Amino acid sequence: MVAIYPGSFDPITNGHLDIIKRAAKLTNKLYVAVLNNSNKKGFIPIDQRVELIKNAVNEIENVEVIYFNGLLVELLKEIKIDCIIKGLRCALDYEYEAQMAHLNRDIYPNAETLFMMCSPRYSFLSSSAVREIYKFGGDIDKYVPKCVEEKIKKMEELL
Ligand code: PNS
Repeated sequence: MVAIYPGSFDPITNGHLDIIKRAAKLTNKLYVAVLNNSNKKGFIPIDQRVELIKNAVNEIENVEVIYFNGLLVELLKEIKIDCIIKGLRCALDYEYEAQMAHLNRDIYPNAETLFMMCSPRYSFLSSSAVREIYKFGGDIDKYVPKCVEEKIKKMEELL
């Protein structure tokens, strides 16, 4: 199976990485796709998010990191993949992700979304929480891959 794990990854967290590692074991090839979430204002520039994810996943052979500017279903058509993988942390995620899954399949009936429960130890973690902790001077090293921690610390100008 070939699948796509989409997200805004702003930045990639250890929770995302956990899903990527587990999804990569279930798939022949896993695309990690950075897309725009128009409800969210960007923190890290897209090209740098892609580089950070590449760095974080460089030891997983069957993972490829890509960027797409447009609808997820258009990316599915372009690379001829039908399977979307999403991580769920809690019921709130389910509400939002169920709507997205229905919507994507309504636009493109081949699009199937498979959900994976995140590991309990990451159930409270989000990119927005990481940004907030960092913004107020807290320690983010437990929550993100090392390369992300180093990168964010160099991004003082974004604060
Ligand atoms: O990590 P996120 O922010 O929850 O990821 C959401 C993302 C980027 C996967 C979602 O916003 C998305 O698919 N964006 C691309 C545009 C699109 O296809 N939107 C859904 C139909 S309106």
